[in-house]
Amino acid sequence: MRIGRNDNCWCGSGEKYKKCHMSFDEKLKEFKRKGYEVPHRSLIKNKEQIEKIKASAKINNEILDLVGDQIKAGMTTAEVDKIVYDYTISKGAEPAPLGYSGFPKSCCTSVNDQICHGIPDDYVLKEGDIVNVDVSTILDGYYSDASRMYMIGEVSDNAKRLVDVTKECMIKGIEAVKPWTRLGNVSQAVQEHAEKNGYSVVREFGGHGIGLEFHEDPFVFHYGTKEEGVLMVPGMIFTIEPMINEGTHELFIDADNGWTSYTDDGKLSAQWENMILVTEDGYEILAK
Ligand code: MF3
Ligand code: CO
Repeated sequence: MRIGRNDNCWCGSGEKYKKCHMSFDEKLKEFKRKGYEVPHRSLIKNKEQIEKIKASAKINNEILDLVGDQIKAGMTTAEVDKIVYDYTISKGAEPAPLGYSGFPKSCCTSVNDQICHGIPDDYVLKEGDIVNVDVSTILDGYYSDASRMYMIGEVSDNAKRLVDVTKECMIKGIEAVKPWTRLGNVSQAVQEHAEKNGYSVVREFGGHGIGLEFHEDPFVFHYGTKEEGVLMVPGMIFTIEPMINEGTHELFIDADNGWTSYTDDGKLSAQWENMILVTEDGYEILAK
C-alpha cells in the first residue's frame, strides 16, 4: 500500500508524511535507482527516539567521565567494573554488556595487547598500562555505547602515540560522516590515518548501528574504499570504534573465556568509540 501525503509518516513522528519523510523517500528512491545500497527504514530514528538515545548516551558519558576520575594504578579491572555497575544502577539504567550473550560483567576492560572484550577481573592496573574501558547503557529501552582509552600514570611514548593516533582515526572517521554519501568514506578515512602512522587496523570487529538495539545494521568497517558501502542518511545512528594495532592486525581470541581478543604479536592495541547521528547537513557526536 502506498502512503498518502496526508497520512501519518512511517517514522512514527506523528507528523503528516508530506511534512516528514516524503522528500526523504523520493531522494532515497533516486539513489536506489542508481544502484546504491540504502539503509532499511527501521534504521532511521525519529526525533523522539533520538532524544531517548541521547538521554542514554548522556549517562554513558557520565560513566566514562567517572571512570576517568577514579581509574589509577593499584585498582583492579573488577573495581572499574563496579564503578560502572553502581553508577548505571543509581541512574535507573542497565549495563548492556551484563548477560549479553553470556558476557559476565558490566563493561569491557582491555589492557595493553588486549584488543577488545577484556573481561574485568582481579588484574591489577599498573603504571604504564593503557586500558580501554568500553561502556554500554540501556535507559528506558534505548541503547548507547562508547569507549575511551585511559593511561595509567606515566606511559611510554610509543603507547601514548598509539592512543593519540587511534583517537585521531576515530575523529577522521567521524569527520567523513555526511548524509547522502557512502559509509566507505568513513572506513577509508580511518584506515588511511592508521596506516600513514605505521599502524594496522583490526578487521574482525567494527562499528554498528545502535539505538533501539545494542547492535543494528550497518556494520561499520574501519578499513575500506571511498565511494563504497551503504548510503548514510539523516536519522541513522552508528558507532565508529576503530581498534588500531602497533604491529600486526592479526588477533586471537582467549580460548578459556571465548571473548577477549589479543594482538597476535603481543604488541599494543588501542580503541576509541563514539556514537554518531547523521543529520541533514553533517553529523552530531552523541558521546562527547
Ligand atoms: N562496544 C562493544 C561492542 O559493541 C561492547 C561489547 S559488550 C559485550 O561490541 F558484552 F559484547 F562484550
Ligand atoms: Co560498540
